[in-house]
Amino acid sequence: MCGIVGFTGLKPAAPVLLQGLERLEYRGYDSAGIAVFKNHKISVKKSEGRLKTLCDLIDNGNGMDSTAGIGHTRWATHGKPSDVNAHPHKSQNGKFAVVHNGIIENYAALKNMLIEHGYTFVSETDTEVVAHLLQFNDDGDMLSTISKTIRQLEGSYALGILNAELPGDVYAVRCASPLLVGVADEGNMIASDIPAILPLTRKILYLNDNEIVRLTAKKVEIFDLDLNPLFREITTITWDISAAEKGGYEHFMIKEIMEQPKALSDTIAPRIKDGDIQLDGVSFDKETLQKFKRIHIVACGSAYHVGVVGKYVIEELTRIPVIAEIASEFRYNNPIVDEQTLVIIISQSGETADTLAALKEARKRGATTLSIVNVVGSSIANASEHVLYTWAGPEISVATTKAYSTQLAMIYLIGLKFAKELGTIDSAAFSEMLDAIKALPEKAQTALQTAPEIETLAQRYAYLEHAYFIGRNLDYAVALEASLKLKEVSYIHSEAYAAGELKHGTISLIEDGTFVVALSCCKQLQMKTMSNIVEVKSRGAEVLLIACENEPFIENHLKDVDHAITVPSTHPLFMPSIEVIPMQLLGYYIAKARNCDIDKPKNLAKSVTVE
Ligand code: F6R
Repeated sequence: MCGIVGFTGLKPAAPVLLQGLERLEYRGYDSAGIAVFKNHKISVKKSEGRLKTLCDLIDNGNGMDSTAGIGHTRWATHGKPSDVNAHPHKSQNGKFAVVHNGIIENYAALKNMLIEHGYTFVSETDTEVVAHLLQFNDDGDMLSTISKTIRQLEGSYALGILNAELPGDVYAVRCASPLLVGVADEGNMIASDIPAILPLTRKILYLNDNEIVRLTAKKVEIFDLDLNPLFREITTITWDISAAEKGGYEHFMIKEIMEQPKALSDTIAPRIKDGDIQLDGVSFDKETLQKFKRIHIVACGSAYHVGVVGKYVIEELTRIPVIAEIASEFRYNNPIVDEQTLVIIISQSGETADTLAALKEARKRGATTLSIVNVVGSSIANASEHVLYTWAGPEISVATTKAYSTQLAMIYLIGLKFAKELGTIDSAAFSEMLDAIKALPEKAQTALQTAPEIETLAQRYAYLEHAYFIGRNLDYAVALEASLKLKEVSYIHSEAYAAGELKHGTISLIEDGTFVVALSCCKQLQMKTMSNIVEVKSRGAEVLLIACENEPFIENHLKDVDHAITVPSTHPLFMPSIEVIPMQLLGYYIAKARNCDIDKPKNLAKSVTVE
C-alpha cells in the first residue's frame, strides 16, 4: 500500500532513500518523505504529491550528509494526502521517527490512551500512534522499547524506525506487510520490495512476522520478540536490474505487455518435462484429488478474473465443481470449505490483505490450500501449504498484465495435470493440450503484432464516456479483465456482461455510438454471440469484434461489425491467454491517447494491504 525504505552506510543516505522510493512509487504516490540524523536530532522533510515534489523541495538530498535515514511513499488510508499526514512521523519528544506500511487496526484505542497520558496528535494517521507509543514505552533500550510497542499493535505493519540518540542505527519490524533487508559492503538497507534494494545489492535477507531488525553500517542483526538473536541465510536475487526499469519503453505497462511471451515461457517451460507436467513438487495423487468435492479459487481484481477462467477450465478438464470467489466476500461468507475442499489462492503480490485473510480462513476450516504467487517469500507464499510461483519477474505497472497471463498459464497446467491424474482426459488429448500450452508464448508474440492497429483504433475511441465488453463462457471471463484494464488506466466507465445477459436490462443503455467490444473466440458460441452483436448494432452500438483468425463464420460476419481484430487460435480452453492481449493494448493505448498517468492511475496502489 505504501513503500518504505531505510539505509545506513558509508555514504550519504538521502540519495539512496530517494532512489529506493522512486522504485517503490508504484505502491503509493500521494505524498513522500524522508528522515535523517542531523546534529543529534532527526530532521524530517516531507510533502504532499509525487516523490518529484519532495526531490525538488530538498534538492535531491544534496547537502544532507547524514549516512542513515528512512523514507516513505504513501497511499493514504487514515487521513487525506497532505504534508502533515505524510510520513515520517515523530514522537512528541522528537526522539523517534517512524515510517509505516499497513494499517494499525487498534489505533483509535491506542490514540485515546495516549491522549489521556497527555500526548497531542498533529496528523490524522494511524502511524503517529506508533511514534508516540515508542516514547510511551521508552525504557532506554531500543530493542526492548520496540518489542513492547509492537506487542500492543494489532493489524498489519512494516515499520522503519530511527532513534535520535542512536545516530547510524536503523530499526525495522514487520507483521503481515512486506519488508526485506539488503546487505552490502557500502551499507545495509530495508525496503518494501526488491527493486528498491537492487541498485545497492543483490544480497537479500527475508524477514518473518514479528522479527525486529537492527541495521548499522557494518552489521545486520535480527531478533525475535523476546530479543533472542536469530540467524538468517542470505538469498541472492538472480533477476537483472533492467527487469525493474523501463528499458526504453514509455511506460512500464507497455513494457510488461510486451514481456508476456518471455514471462509465459519462464512460467511454463520449467514445468514441462518428458511429456508430463511437474508442479515443483506439488503433487496430488488420484486418491487425494478424488477426495476434493469442490475447488474454490479465491482472489481479488484481475487475479479473481483468472479465477473465473479457472472455473471454466478446471471444471471442464476435471469435472470437479469449481467456484471462483472474490476474497473480500469469501472471508466473511461463512464459506463452506472443509477437508474435502481444495482452495486455490491467486495473488501477484502475495500481500493482498483480503486474499491473505481468505487463505487463513480456508486453512482454519481444514481445506487444502494451493497458492499461485509471483513474489517469492511474500506473506501468502509463507502462509500456504503448497505454493506455485509465476515467474513473471517484477511487475511495476499498477495495472497487471504479465502477472495475469502467467497466472492463467498456471491454471492451465494445474487443470491439465489434475485431469491426467484423475483420468478425466485421455493421453492423446493430454499431449495435444500440452503442446498447445507450450506454444502459448509464440502465439502471444503474434497477438502482440496487433499493437499498431489497436493504437490507431484507440485514437478513435479515446474520448468515449462508456464502454461495454461482452462475451460468453471464456470470452466473458476475458471481458471482465478487458473492462477492468480499460477503466483503471483510462478512467472511462466500462462494464463487462455475459453477452446473453444483455437483454435482461443492460441493453437499455445502448444507443447511437455506444462502444461495445464483443469477444468471440469461443467457437462453439460464435453464433450466439453474433446474435447479441446484431442486437446491439441494431440499437446503434459501434462494435469492435475480437475473434480468432481464419474462421469462416467470423469472416462471413465482418460486415456486421464496425471493426474487427483477429488473433491466432489455440486450444479453445487456452484462448483467454491470446485474446486478452489486444484488450490490454486497447486499455493502454486509449489511456495514452487521453494522456493519463498510465503506470500510476489515480487512487490506486499496486499492492492492497488493507481491507
Ligand atoms: C488490476 C490489478 C488488481 C490486482 C488485485 C490483486 O490491474 O492489478 O486488480 O489484480 O489488486 O492483487 P494481487 O494479485 O497482488 O493479490
